[in-house]
Amino acid sequence: MKNIVLIGMPGCGKTTLGKLLAAKLKMEFYDADDVLEQREPYSIKEFFAQGEEVFREAEQRTAEFLACKENCVIAAGGGVVKKEASMAAYGKNGIIVFIDRPADAIVNDVEIKTRPLLAAGTQRVYELYDERIELYRKYAAYIVKNADSIENVLSQLVKIAGEMKK
Ligand code: S3P
Repeated sequence: MKNIVLIGMPGCGKTTLGKLLAAKLKMEFYDADDVLEQREPYSIKEFFAQGEEVFREAEQRTAEFLACKENCVIAAGGGVVKKEASMAAYGKNGIIVFIDRPADAIVNDVEIKTRPLLAAGTQRVYELYDERIELYRKYAAYIVKNADSIENVLSQLVKIAGEMKK
């Protein structure tokens, strides 16, 4: 089966949902940020210190590496949609699912200080959401709203996986 690639804002639940989905479907799970840090010589923070574009190139290399796998659930980084080549890699062997969590819910939930792009404060979350929403929608084969219970979102993801097999 193709990979299931979860995209969406930092704090939208990609990693939590991805792990649960992978466990339920007996698929492997990869968090692209973790894979990037394992494979690359610098941490995400260090990459950003060299400039966002340097980070996006490392993110593209990670996407190309993960796209060679199959039958995996992948949680992509929140800004992966900013580089078309990364999305092309993920799209080659994966179904892209946008986890759409309202910016309000993210602001009330996330440890902002651990996210480099959000360190500027909660206003940044709303700005990023507005900046990226069209890109998330553009690349998504499916859009799942994460506005209520995690069980509800998970069951929608399981349904999508079922449709992929048909
Ligand atoms: C980023 C989101 C992060 C990580 C990096 C850049 C972004 O991933 O890839 O800090 O540009 O939104 P998460 O969405 O997993 O936090």
